Amino acid sequence: MEKISIAKAPVFTSPNPMTLICTQKPDGTTNLATLAFWTYASTAPGKIVFSLNKGAYSLELLAASKEVVVAIPGADLCGAVIGCGTSSGRNTNKVEKFGIPMQKIEGTGIEAPASSRLVIHATVSETVDADDHVLHICNVNSVFADESIEAVFAWNGYAELAPAQKK
Ligand SMILES: Cc1cc2nc3c(=O)[nH]c(=O)nc-3n(C[C@H](O)[C@H](O)[C@H](O)COP(=O)(O)O)c2cc1C
Repeated sequence: MEKISIAKAPVFTSPNPMTLICTQKPDGTTNLATLAFWTYASTAPGKIVFSLNKGAYSLELLAASKEVVVAIPGADLCGAVIGCGTSSGRNTNKVEKFGIPMQKIEGTGIEAPASSRLVIHATVSETVDADDHVLHICNVNSVFADESIEAVFAWNGYAELAPAQKK
């Protein structure tokens, strides 16, 4: 085997799951941030975990509200997913800038992209410092799915976004 850096490891685990984490800004609008570092953590009760970099505006929003919607975006949102991962909600309304149609989610004021295969509404229960990131452990409140939407994945690490196919 070849010894590699952890930064290169995602190239070997592609396709990697992609999410948009949706949080509420103080003006009530929804901020979207692209996030790859997430997973299910427990099923009874439902828990998910994700890791947010310390520069992200989403980190500040979550510290205040503790409420998050994690959306698995549809393949038609590839461009928007890059845009939401390379700009900050601190100075940009990403929903408007990238023209992302949104939908209301039952039980929360946070919206999610209309093109979402899966939506998880969760509450942050614990955070753990992880050096350049903060790990968030969340209790799942509700989950919604739409089988007709094809999910987007990251390929070649995070270099390309496209659907996944069985070989
Ligand atoms: C493909 C891709 C994957 C990303 N994955 C993560 C991630 O897992 N965790 C993270 O904190 N940021 C990740 N980012 C970077 C954030 O999306 C970026 O810092 C964004 O500007 C945060 O937006 P905000 O300031 O509105 O919260 C990713 C970006 C891209 C393009």
